[in-house]
Amino acid sequence: MTGTRIAVAVDGPAGSGKSSVSRAAARELGFDYQDTGAAYRALAWLALNRGIDLDREADILTLLPDFDYDIGVDPNHYFVRVGGTPVTREIRDPAVSAVVSRVARIPAVREHLTGLFRSRIADGTRPGIITEGRDITTIVAPDAAVRVLLTASAAARTARRAAELDVSSTEAVGEQLSARDAQDLAVVDFMNAAEGVTTLDSTDLDFDETVAALVALIRAHPGSA
Ligand code: DC
Repeated sequence: MTGTRIAVAVDGPAGSGKSSVSRAAARELGFDYQDTGAAYRALAWLALNRGIDLDREADILTLLPDFDYDIGVDPNHYFVRVGGTPVTREIRDPAVSAVVSRVARIPAVREHLTGLFRSRIADGTRPGIITEGRDITTIVAPDAAVRVLLTASAAARTARRAAELDVSSTEAVGEQLSARDAQDLAVVDFMNAAEGVTTLDSTDLDFDETVAALVALIRAHPGSA
């Protein structure tokens, strides 16, 4: 890492808004933005695409050596590609969401992707990078200059996700969110802030207020823009 490139780590549960908030904050600060969930999704997409049996861990691992994953870290030009194929939309498919936890829970997968994430944090020309996920503040970048856990009540997360999906009944959305949380929490604790991590609770904040709060935390760091 260059001496002045600021690493920001943001973790949080599904529906906390961490992706959109982190991206907007990166835009405002002129920083890179790294969405790590996209890498787990891209690998899950590839496994489905190749017809791999997701119960066979060893088969999933055969994908890693040639996993040609590319993500746009410019917050104004977000894209995800696997082997040169654009999969930006495909990785959000419910079929991928349904199986991604099974890929993400494999320790060798996490180790491999963590290496990719760290190299993107280290290399870049923008003055900083915001990396968001579930284990960024604790495993991927525990020494990041700014570490934030973005939370919101289950009710607020459900309401936001329902609005995103444009559905009126929140009950099913709430059930899906808590099922996702339960699966993901089996791998890493992203509900409780680790030591030195600042909790930003967005339950009573709107989108712009949450972005402003994150930007303020980053600007408070000595050496930031
Ligand atoms: O944030 P998301 O919904 O795009 O994440 C997709 C999946 O990847 C989800 O099951 C959690 C997992 N994930 C993870 O285990 N570690 C990360 N750093 C990011 C995501």
